[in-house]
Amino acid sequence: MPKETTRRIGLSLGADICWPLCYEKILARLDLALPIGREIVRFDVKRVTIEPYDLRQPCPYDLVIDRLTHWYHTSREWVKKAVLMDGLYVFNNPWAIQSMEKQTTYCAMMHLGLPVPDTWMIPPKDYEWTADLRATLNRYAELFDLGAIGRQIGFPLFMKPYDGGAWVGVSKIDDEAALRAAYEESGKRVMHLQKAVAPFDLFVRAIGVGPQVRVVRYEPDAPLHARYTADDGGISADERSLLEDMALTINTFFGWDFNSCESLRKDGVFHPIDFANACPDSQVTSLHFNFPWLVKAKLRWSLFAAGTQRKMRKTLDWEPYYKVAAVPDMPYRERLRAYAKIARERLDAERFEEFCGKHLAHLDEVAWEFFGTDDAREAVRLKVAALFPAHEIEEFTEYFWQAVQRWRATEGSPR
Ligand SMILES: Nc1ncnc2c1ncn2[C@@H]1O[C@H](COP(=O)(O)OP(=O)(O)O)[C@@H](O)[C@H]1O
Ligand SMILES: [Mg+2]
Repeated sequence: MPKETTRRIGLSLGADICWPLCYEKILARLDLALPIGREIVRFDVKRVTIEPYDLRQPCPYDLVIDRLTHWYHTSREWVKKAVLMDGLYVFNNPWAIQSMEKQTTYCAMMHLGLPVPDTWMIPPKDYEWTADLRATLNRYAELFDLGAIGRQIGFPLFMKPYDGGAWVGVSKIDDEAALRAAYEESGKRVMHLQKAVAPFDLFVRAIGVGPQVRVVRYEPDAPLHARYTADDGGISADERSLLEDMALTINTFFGWDFNSCESLRKDGVFHPIDFANACPDSQVTSLHFNFPWLVKAKLRWSLFAAGTQRKMRKTLDWEPYYKVAAVPDMPYRERLRAYAKIARERLDAERFEEFCGKHLAHLDEVAWEFFGTDDAREAVRLKVAALFPAHEIEEFTEYFWQAVQRWRATEGSPR
């Protein structure tokens, strides 16, 4: 008789409401008992609680899906302890989240040859003044001509925090006067000046979960609930493959299982502009039509990783990518393909496909049915109720619910 065993999955959550509910309910409906090796593997999912802990106490999870530790540090340190001491697999790698700012990701991907727009860093306009800081700046801070830097980059350009997120402190700058004014206003923030990709004819986000990538056209000027669209901008198969290779290269380079890469297309070239987005938005209120895909992608990747006891890569080995980067005269597309090959190996992409084919063949059907149930609608309503004013709850619940139903209609019953 094969031995029965249970793999424990923890959800480390903040304001998330909708996707965990859907994840839990679909997992229950899948009712998995997978023959893996000599065992029958079942899965149990619980929500990670916040409480005091002894650093030597064992971790009750095999795998944690984390949406919290990038801003809640008690949990981040608990996750790190569990990776170091208990063999926990977590997505995403908490050290990579903590240390890889936009600036680092720009530098690394520039080195690998990706067409990141020209970017400068400038010292901040203002500081928390201390005696040492005054002495340091008096001795070493060079006066600089902001206008000359602007002219060198060329207008329009974007001023944005080197470690930014959520569009905070981002401004588009059309001329030198506007650049000086924006710098005056930038306060203590350390800013980038980045050449605008303008005009661009397509803005896409490539959402990656393990080896799975979904490309979605993005409307930056639309209201929040309509920025993600329900299409991919009509990209060609070659473009899709390039965007997938780019996303997987970025994600594995930085040790992120779950990330989103923003790219702008100009003259047929996709310029990545913002790809330090580990643990991106997972809510139905932003993703709408794309939401079921994300829930399924998280299920597949977490079940694969927990089911096969995938080992988490604790440190980031960059040398293989640098070796490819050092090959002289390699065309960009070929180079990117070579990086993506490393990425797919690291992500066990082939074994993952096999696992899904063998063990999760019924997921499409189970999820398709679930996303038509009252439980799914309630998950949408609860998220809407947490974000929208009382008088808009019904209207927006229906709006997002219809988007999910359009997804069902597009997929068609997989039965
Ligand atoms: N180089 C650029 N060219 C064109 N648009 C840009 C550029 N950089 C930023 N933007 C615009 O500003 C928005 C916010 O900038 P982004 O780098 O994505 O910062 P955040 O991390 O805050 O999302 C982008 O979604 C895009 O609309
Ligand atoms: Mg962005």
